[in-house]
Amino acid sequence: LASAGDHLFGYGDPAGLAELRVELASYLNRARHTAATADSIVVTAGTARSLTHLAGVLRASGVEAMAVEEPGFPFHHPILRRAGLQLVPVPVDGEGVDVDALAATGLTAVVVTPAHQYPLGTVMSPQRRSELVAWARSRQGWVFEDDYDSEFRYDRQPLGALHGIAPDRVVYLGTASKTLGAGLRVGWMVVPPQLRGLMSDQLGRDNEVSHLTQAVLARFIADGHLDRHVRRARAAYRSRRDQLLGAVQSAIDSADIRGVAAGLHLTLVLPDRLDEHTIVRYASKAHGLALWGLRLHYVTDRAVDGLVLGYCRTPVDFGDSVARLSTILRHAPTG
Ligand SMILES: Cc1ncc(COP(=O)(O)O)c(C=O)c1O
Repeated sequence: LASAGDHLFGYGDPAGLAELRVELASYLNRARHTAATADSIVVTAGTARSLTHLAGVLRASGVEAMAVEEPGFPFHHPILRRAGLQLVPVPVDGEGVDVDALAATGLTAVVVTPAHQYPLGTVMSPQRRSELVAWARSRQGWVFEDDYDSEFRYDRQPLGALHGIAPDRVVYLGTASKTLGAGLRVGWMVVPPQLRGLMSDQLGRDNEVSHLTQAVLARFIADGHLDRHVRRARAAYRSRRDQLLGAVQSAIDSADIRGVAAGLHLTLVLPDRLDEHTIVRYASKAHGLALWGLRLHYVTDRAVDGLVLGYCRTPVDFGDSVARLSTILRHAPTG
């Protein structure tokens, strides 16, 4: 506060504090190979808010429906629906979202998680990335790239953001929720030139994130703390992931585990003999462990039984929880 300039105490730019947008553009271009400029960035209170603004932009331009990944992040669905959009699920396979199925919907907007599909953990293949960009260009459509956890990758080469190859058609969505903490409520969008006018109408007079938070984050990035923190956190999360992976593999022979190479969770597709509801109920009742199932991530009833196992925000005794999980998977009633 002692070093804060007067500009922090006024309404300021609706797109966010200039110094933060400058730092974010250089951080994202360096860490994620985006093609961002400070002018293209809008600071928001997180991805959920970015999507609210984007849904407003779509509605203002006459769009009534958009595509979402199936399975996908269930908390984004009500946000988009509340804005008046109808959601059309498009399946995800081992290479990412199915672009043929997307094209068949006839829609012009989709939200995807190319770096680490949520919840399956698939990394979108280079071929699929090109197809998706070609789809967007041919339809004059929009890809909303939800890049929520891409800083955390462990055993694979970093893959740049989709935005870097199609900044005219991709809206990049980033967040501090995974790197720093969801409670900060800070995120950002990189908005293509063609959408900036509509976005500015959406934003109105002021920015939704406290200038103080924005100024602190700008300094945090400028002084290299974010890079250092991500490096340290990556090492810690990798070792927790290894512990969790070991426990699941030892409890289930040839377990179908997905998405282990990156992110903050892994997905276990349950073998036929195990039923998701039974496992979740048994874990809670018999072992006091809250588990997160895969089914609730589906819009349709084509759901696969499985568990989404996060290892970032852990209980005090991670080892104990992992051991309990292993016991549950071994001894749960079969479905
Ligand atoms: C797929 C996905 N996108 C985005 C987010 C972050 O959203 P927000 O920035 O609103 O906290 C999360 C957090 O869990 C997520 O899982």
